[in-house]
Amino acid sequence: MDLKEAMEARHSVREYKDMPIEPEKAELIKAEIERINKEGDLNVQLFLDEPEAFDPEILIYGKIKNVKNYIAMIGKNADDLEERVGYYGEQLVLFAQTQGLNTCWVGTTYKKMHKLMDIRDDDRIVLVIAVGYGENEGVPHKSKALSSVIKGCRDISELPDWFIKGAEASLLAPTAVNQQRFSFCMTDDSKVKADPGRAFFCKIDMGIAKCHFEIGAGKENFEWA
Ligand SMILES: Cc1cc2nc3c(=O)[nH]c(=O)nc-3n(C[C@H](O)[C@H](O)[C@H](O)COP(=O)(O)O)c2cc1C
Repeated sequence: MDLKEAMEARHSVREYKDMPIEPEKAELIKAEIERINKEGDLNVQLFLDEPEAFDPEILIYGKIKNVKNYIAMIGKNADDLEERVGYYGEQLVLFAQTQGLNTCWVGTTYKKMHKLMDIRDDDRIVLVIAVGYGENEGVPHKSKALSSVIKGCRDISELPDWFIKGAEASLLAPTAVNQQRFSFCMTDDSKVKADPGRAFFCKIDMGIAKCHFEIGAGKENFEWA
């Protein structure tokens, strides 16, 4: 499965089997985490077979059952931390999908978890991603129309194919409460400008949607404005 297929196959999964992640797969995920921590200047950490810390009773929304493994998205506090968490976290989500694993972004963290984490000065625990073998593969979310995430500048019929593919891929992205508030616009110098919109978690959603846009459009075809 490549990343485009992973974007299509991925849906939030909220119930997990009692099946551990095999050590070889865990090592691959750890290697990806090491890569994104370097590239994205983050302090992301993987917790395996650690069911105690995840308390499904205290969730902002959604019923998530039997989470034994999770990825804690942590980084030094900065204006762009949330967008980076979204962008790099989604790379991990899609990587997990290519390994036959399921995921769910979870906008809540727990005190019990915090005790297990290696937190540096100025670090902020942004949220977690549940990961494991799902009881199901989840279901495709309802999606906004393509035209509602393409804003400004040009008529859709004048946009290059790669831009449309990027926008279509962004609509497959997970967003908090499926809000899909982000939009993309092509500037006069043919760069892509992304707008998070306004909503709770919208900067994280923006990073996630940018990750999808790049995979759909092909990173080599454009630059971010
Ligand atoms: C930043 C963020 C936070 C989320 N928090 C939760 C959560 O706390 N509980 C939950 O059940 N789902 C959560 N989700 C999952 C979304 O509800 C889900 O991505 C959205 O409904 C779209 O569905 P899909 O992921 O299956 O495509 C979150 C997603 C994102 C991106």
